[in-house]
Amino acid sequence: MSTHILAIESSCDETSAAVVDDGRVIRSNVIYTQIATHKAYGGVVPEIASREHLRKISSVVKVAVAKSGLNLAELDAVAVTKGPGLIGSLLVGLSYAKAVAETLEIPLIGVHHLSGHLYGAVMSAEDMEPPLCALIASGGHSSVVYMPEHLHFEVLGETRDDAAGEVLDKVARSLGLPYPGGAALERLAADGDPAAIDFPRAWLGPDSYDFSFSGLKSHVLNYLNRAAMKGEEVNKADVAASFQQALFEVLTVKAVRACREKGVDRLVLSGGVAANETLKRMMAEHAAAEGIRFHAPPKILCTDNAAMIGSVAYYKYLKKEFNSVSLNATANLPLENE
Ligand code: KG4
Ligand code: ZN
Repeated sequence: MSTHILAIESSCDETSAAVVDDGRVIRSNVIYTQIATHKAYGGVVPEIASREHLRKISSVVKVAVAKSGLNLAELDAVAVTKGPGLIGSLLVGLSYAKAVAETLEIPLIGVHHLSGHLYGAVMSAEDMEPPLCALIASGGHSSVVYMPEHLHFEVLGETRDDAAGEVLDKVARSLGLPYPGGAALERLAADGDPAAIDFPRAWLGPDSYDFSFSGLKSHVLNYLNRAAMKGEEVNKADVAASFQQALFEVLTVKAVRACREKGVDRLVLSGGVAANETLKRMMAEHAAAEGIRFHAPPKILCTDNAAMIGSVAYYKYLKKEFNSVSLNATANLPLENE
């Protein structure tokens, strides 16, 4: 008998609900993105995000259940992102999930957003069971994580300033690209030369798994400003490609080094930035050279979605790690607290 979990994700600007069987089989994964609403402001406006979640949550959950082909009575648990994220946005999903759990008298399972991203990779590959290492690169996070077994996470390194997605979005904006800039910058970079400009790589010492991208960001912005002041033409495609190269080289080298140090031969990439084909290719090549198997999820499981939350929840369900209705949302939540 399969375990059917209804999952809800509302940590940022996507309202999503999914029904997942046994942590792997996606019956439905409905995602309503608010990107068009926030575009005019050049970034996510928290107050507007909460209101949009409130407006959409009920219909998104209903469509996810209808598409799953199951009756409400067949659901075994309801999972929900408990943090980190925008607090007002998280609370909408959490309150809705609590109401479902109470009404259907099924367990409530709170899930950490980043473990969700990591399981987006795990659930979409046959052979990516722990022990493994992961690079999680999203709009809010850049982390190198060691997962010795299911639901156990050791964060080896994190960003000390801007996250990878954040710096992609900021540089994209300065190149005149629309928000969110990661995907648009990838398209622009496709016509550029990654070796055209030697932007700095911040390694932060030979043993560090931490990241710092604000220096790289300032370098790119200064490069563009200097050219503008001198009235010089810049090759934007070369800037985009060289910037991506500097950013992705640091991410790739540290993730592969983590595998070597931990003695694992599996590496996954996840989070919104994992949608980037250049990053995937760089990581795949670097991992292969060291005999490490590499996997990145399909795009739909890279950016925020509820299926990944439903996957984590299955492993918590097996261990009966349930939450009471007093579960609270937390804006800043360490991954070790999963
Ligand atoms: O995981 P996600 O959907 O939301 C957070 O949890 O932050 O990640 C969003 C981030 C944005 O910064 C966006 O620019 C980036 O993922 N992103 C990309 C691509 N698609 C989305 N970055 C690089 N290349 C892409 N194709
Ligand atoms: Zn995310």
